[in-house]
Amino acid sequence: MSTFWSIWVTVIVLGTVFGCAWLLFATRKSQTTEVETDRTMGHSFDGIEEYDNPLPKWWFYLFVATCIFALGYLALYPGLGNYKGLLGWTSANQWEKEVAAADEQYGPIYAQYGQTPVPELAKDEDALKIGQRLFANNCSVCHGSAARGQVGFPNLTDGDWLWGGTPEAILQTLHNGRMGNMPAKGVMPNMTNEQVDQVVNYVLSFSGREIDAAAATAGQAVFAQACVACHGPEGKGMTALGAPNLTDNVWLYGSNYEWIRETVLHGRQNEMPAQGGRLSDDQIQILAAYVYSLSN
Ligand code: HEC
Ligand code: HEC
Repeated sequence: MSTFWSIWVTVIVLGTVFGCAWLLFATRKSQTTEVETDRTMGHSFDGIEEYDNPLPKWWFYLFVATCIFALGYLALYPGLGNYKGLLGWTSANQWEKEVAAADEQYGPIYAQYGQTPVPELAKDEDALKIGQRLFANNCSVCHGSAARGQVGFPNLTDGDWLWGGTPEAILQTLHNGRMGNMPAKGVMPNMTNEQVDQVVNYVLSFSGREIDAAAATAGQAVFAQACVACHGPEGKGMTALGAPNLTDNVWLYGSNYEWIRETVLHGRQNEMPAQGGRLSDDQIQILAAYVYSLSN
């Protein structure tokens, strides 16, 4: 904050506190001489009149105490422009202290879980409870609070995997992240619109959808040329490349003609962000067990 704004803030804050105090004393009626009377202010609104009595003592002193508290608070904590306060408190060091305290409290628990193999950890109720909380904080924005995913974000509960559902594959996904890359028109950049239509019909036929049978038959050759490298000869996918199984009627994007055509025409780029470095190895172990438990 520049000096000007620092002074600006300080003047307004102190001005408000002292202004309130001044108002309080300036309008105060003598507490010693005046006792409560029936005298009114002399005005009446819709027949309602106002007594002219001093403020109740408790109210008056409470207000004085508030002003003193405010000044004390402003001396101890940062509130006046660039002034740092006598305690040297900042939100950053409070947060650091809380993290350190949490590490001290949970570190040993996490470390113990971190040594346990994923399938075993996935049977531990307490570990799963921690996993669920970690998931809610770190993963649910993308995968949903029940881990069921949404368009472009895979469902983690259905036992169908882009990158594999073994403990090793899940750990790898979490530690290093994943980049799903479907190139436009597969490996056939000169694909004509007619061939796009054919291959889309062929893909639809895998899951028994109503299709243009002639186009689907012609699409088989296009698929063999442009798609098998990643999706495999039978369209069952390849976890090494994150290429989805196209025959199981589980879809990362939509399942109808338009969505699939869109995927083939323009490709898809999709990223699962790496968690290594963001979360500790022990936390990742617990999360992997939680994810594993959702479909096992
Ligand atoms: C910014 C969004 C985002 C966040 C946050 C996120 N993910 Fe993901 N995740 C994705 C996307 C997108 C994919 C799919 C990548 C692809 O298409 O290949 C994915 C894929 C995965 C997969 C692989 C699924 C499969 O079928 O192989 C797992 C497991 C996973 N995420 C778990 C997690 C966990 C656990 C967390 C929390 C630590 C998390 N994700 C946080 C976006 C996210
Ligand atoms: C270089 C590898 C590669 C090639 C070649 C390839 N794909 Fe893909 N495909 C992928 C990957 C990876 C994804 C997942 C993208 C993501 O994670 O968002 C994908 C996703 C898809 C999807 C979306 C599936 C869903 O669940 O929503 C369809 C449909 C698809 N591909 C069809 C095709 C067709 C048809 C061809 C041939 C024209 C083809 N792909 C060629 C790698 C490939």
